[in-house]
Amino acid sequence: MYSEKVMDHFEHPRNVGEIENASGVGTVGNAKCGDIMRIFLDIDDDGIIRDVKFKTFGCGAAVATSSMATELVKGKTVQEAMQVTNKAVMEALDGLPPVKVHCSLLAEEAIHAALWDYAQKKGIVIEGLEKPKSDIHEGEEAEEEEY
Ligand code: FES
Repeated sequence: MYSEKVMDHFEHPRNVGEIENASGVGTVGNAKCGDIMRIFLDIDDDGIIRDVKFKTFGCGAAVATSSMATELVKGKTVQEAMQVTNKAVMEALDGLPPVKVHCSLLAEEAIHAALWDYAQKKGIVIEGLEKPKSDIHEGEEAEEEEY
């Protein structure tokens, strides 16, 4: 049911932990499943993400997607990190079962929330970045009601 890459990142998650005095911290949850993800970014003066760590209190897919998301943004510029969508994370993991797609959204939103926090602290605007939701379930509800 899960790809080898998902299992690998679940069993050996990369970049677990916290960064003290991080440039940006983002926390996002999903009230429906109760899972929470927190991402810490260390961004240098050139806008390059030097380090990234995460803590996820959630399901295996949430752990695997946060692990892969941190790998994808590490060493990238802020603008490049904006391209790391949940689709990109899922592709890098060779896919996720349909019921677990929402877990990858948590990773995308947590990165956006951390970038938002960084932009707020720096007093800058990151192109294309909108204020993140703290609960991603809010937006999902409307979509689910259509079924
Ligand atoms: Fe909610 Fe995976 S079940 S993040």
